[in-house]
Amino acid sequence: SKHSPNITHVEWKRVTRLCHTKSLLTINGEYPGPTIIVHEGDNVEIKVTNKVDRNTTLHWHGIRQYRTGWADGPAYITQCPIRAGKSYTYKFTIADQRGTLWWHAHLSWQRATVYGAFIIYPRLPYPFSAPIHQEIPIIFGEWWNPDVEAVENEMMLSGAGPNSSDAFTINGLPGPLYPCSYQDTFIQTVEKGKTYLLRIMNAALRNELFFAIADHTLTVVEIDAVYTKPFNTKAIMIAPGQTTNVLLTTNQAQDSSSSKMFVMAARPYLTSSFPFDNSTTIGFLNYKSTRNEEIKHPLAPYVLPSNLPPMEDTIFATKFSEKLRSLGSSQYPCRVPKKIDKRVITTISLNLQDCPSNETCKGFRNKRFLASMNNQSFIRPSMSILECHYKNLTTTSTNLFSNFPENPPFPFNYTGVDPIAENMNTQFGTKLLVVPFGTKLEMVLQDTNFLNPENHPIHVHGHNFFIVGTGFGNYNADKDPKYYNLVDPPERNTVAVPIGGWAAIRINADNPGVWFIHCHLEEHTSWGLAMGFIVQSGPKPSQCLLPPPHDLPPC
Ligand code: C2O
Repeated sequence: SKHSPNITHVEWKRVTRLCHTKSLLTINGEYPGPTIIVHEGDNVEIKVTNKVDRNTTLHWHGIRQYRTGWADGPAYITQCPIRAGKSYTYKFTIADQRGTLWWHAHLSWQRATVYGAFIIYPRLPYPFSAPIHQEIPIIFGEWWNPDVEAVENEMMLSGAGPNSSDAFTINGLPGPLYPCSYQDTFIQTVEKGKTYLLRIMNAALRNELFFAIADHTLTVVEIDAVYTKPFNTKAIMIAPGQTTNVLLTTNQAQDSSSSKMFVMAARPYLTSSFPFDNSTTIGFLNYKSTRNEEIKHPLAPYVLPSNLPPMEDTIFATKFSEKLRSLGSSQYPCRVPKKIDKRVITTISLNLQDCPSNETCKGFRNKRFLASMNNQSFIRPSMSILECHYKNLTTTSTNLFSNFPENPPFPFNYTGVDPIAENMNTQFGTKLLVVPFGTKLEMVLQDTNFLNPENHPIHVHGHNFFIVGTGFGNYNADKDPKYYNLVDPPERNTVAVPIGGWAAIRINADNPGVWFIHCHLEEHTSWGLAMGFIVQSGPKPSQCLLPPPHDLPPC
């Protein structure tokens, strides 16, 4: 069936949080943006009209966009921006996907305020152990008192890291632990003795988060719109870009004659808090009483759930990630490529660039920050790479593009104590990894141990991938593949590469087009931690990129 969700225009809206009122970039004036609800198999058409004075694009994070890269959305990768006063209709089909995804703006840091849930109802019944009484979307974000695009611009000018946001939020609400925010608290009322499906999304710009509900166990059943083998956990770790569905059974409050509140809380996973935001957003789970009392805001002091992991809890983060497994049922088999055609190894780094002699740079050691993959800092061109590719311009007449190196330019001890001297320099360019249709590709993402206090959430557009292995230290191509999980590895679109370690992902490159691969920590993308990924069209017509739509925005 054809489905046109409730997203129509981009507009400014005055919004107040933390006693600070500002104009936010929004969709239809909503913050967070509207929830999109579709069904597996739907043909989706979303006409977006830009009613503001700046460029924008929208991206449907995790939607595969099979042959429809034109609707994917990252600015200058698959389209030029929608300019002021103009419209563009995103058209795509939801094929063989179901679950929780999300959507967000994909230009500068606009996704700070322009984001929302994207829910796909399955053709088949849920494969869950209990009937779902109600579904509850929970989307984490960040609130910034300043304009976020100005934050990015200033950061790029000074070479320093950005200032932190002013609060984390649950469904746009910071909660009572922030100044002047008591009235902006998320409260979810539930009934005792039911099973709820929480659709949890991390839309924060800069932080992986731990999330827990006091006295409750969560059962993980889905990640990035792929069912998992269920497991119970006291908390979850969720990286920017990721989604996690959990079952929540309301089996706590004993006496239902009066209502009872349980604190839910999200705070960052960070191995070093300075200079990052290490604050906590809380909301409440409210067990409804039989007497139907009015909901009262709980008063301080607020006790954080004892099951919320401490901020630096790498052990919890690691064990949690290791428990994730594809469901791998006959209905939903795990399609991990058992053999590969190609292995690409890439470092993921923060880097430093010398400061021009007449300037002062505030990054580190008087230099500016950069970020890279295989020491290539990605430059977004001023045209759409997909359009260039479609017109066969990526390889021929222009010298704007060049090949992404398939191995680190020089090996060093990536996770050693101080690899700064060796790892400092990067090259700038629009580097593209080009593979033939159907390539079974393995990418090893190797973190480098420089000034980075958290996992890098690497997101691949246009494809899901399978995380066949992870580890700490340096990847070893002789030993590590022996321990890969080629049976039921987790399938997702965003992997949190362990800090001081590596992750090996396998991609069945069967979606022709140009796809962005990047770190979902926003300043890292700004600094160049990204690459282009081109999957060539196959020999059959059904394996080719479709032609561009007529209303594709021009550059
Ligand atoms: Cu969630 Cu390139 O994006």
